Amino acid sequence: MSAIPATFRAYVAEKVGDRVDRGVRDFAEADLPPGEVEIRVGWSSVNYKDGLATRVDGKVARISPLIPGIDLAGEGVASEDPAIAVGDSVLAHGYDLGVARHGGYAEYQRVPAGWVVPLVLGLSPRDAMAIGTAGFTAAMSVVALEERGLQPDAGPILVTGASGGVGGTALAILADRGYEVWAATGKPDEAGRLRALGAAGILSRAEITAEGKPLDPERWAGAVDAVGEATLPYVLRTLRRGAAVAASGNAGGAKLETTVFPFILRGVALLGMDSVPVPIARRREIWDWLATDLRPRELGVHATEVGLDDLDGALDGIVAGSARGRWVVRTGG
Ligand SMILES: NC(=O)c1ccc[n+]([C@@H]2O[C@H](COP(=O)([O-])OP(=O)(O)OC[C@H]3O[C@@H](n4cnc5c(N)ncnc54)[C@H](OP(=O)(O)O)[C@@H]3O)[C@@H](O)[C@H]2O)c1
Repeated sequence: MSAIPATFRAYVAEKVGDRVDRGVRDFAEADLPPGEVEIRVGWSSVNYKDGLATRVDGKVARISPLIPGIDLAGEGVASEDPAIAVGDSVLAHGYDLGVARHGGYAEYQRVPAGWVVPLVLGLSPRDAMAIGTAGFTAAMSVVALEERGLQPDAGPILVTGASGGVGGTALAILADRGYEVWAATGKPDEAGRLRALGAAGILSRAEITAEGKPLDPERWAGAVDAVGEATLPYVLRTLRRGAAVAASGNAGGAKLETTVFPFILRGVALLGMDSVPVPIARRREIWDWLATDLRPRELGVHATEVGLDDLDGALDGIVAGSARGRWVVRTGG
């Protein structure tokens, strides 16, 4: 017998002919897939991939109808796993969530126990979704750079797409760890907010999307890039000898036009980040760091709150590149 009510509110995307119908409807508990943990979802968030999951040309949704939302946080209301108790604060993200299995834009959700991250170190469910998948990917990026040897005294670090979810969180984490972080943004009016997050300097989008030589003067000791096509060529040709970029996204396009020279003449490295399949033990470890050593400054202050009924605008906005910080989704009334 389920602890989830027979019906609950959910935002649903359904492919109908050549369009996607989106909106809030009553969803039946019986239509949820099986799983060991039932969660009263308090918060979800809006990630770039969620925007794509609700578009006909998005190539992300693998079931229809789909409750999107690639991350969620809330309170366990039933659990078949002795490690997760009723009343525990938990989160889940990645794997098939919000893509091939119903996700976070709902009052309740049921998930496999092996996807659940207990929130034990002082992050509230809202805090966790202010970080969300984008912030988790930012943390993965910082961890990957540091595990390769990057330290705060190495020199300036570049973060592209800095007004967005991955970029803004990476900026905040790196600045708090003592790095000199430069923020590249296409939104000049965001400069004040980015400086408050810890940016030592601001670069315009024009500067980092312009054509350049195969190698330009060495500048950056490391970089975090979630923009892709528009910015990664600049990043690669300006990284210092032996430096690395953690690359996770394609908000500015998916093609990559570069030469081999940054790799073979400067030994730079392109570290690919994929948050989706991260094994649960490593995922829990990174969240523990996000709650402590990697906790982004002003957590939640830069998040805009929306309800299930207001999701259309946020989902369209993130794909259009208009993100200013993160959107958190309040799933209850
Ligand atoms: N690999 C993974 O596991 C993983 C996880 C999370 C996200 N991602 C990917 O990472 C990317 C960013 O996600 P997000 O949630 O941070 O999105 P977001 O909040 O929309 O941020 C993306 C930012 O990129 C910049 N941008 C957008 N269009 C651009 C263009 N044409 N040229 C240059 N810059 C542009 C904008 O920042 P400015 O205006 O400040 O320049 C925008 O705010 C997406 O592609 C997403 O799918 C991947």
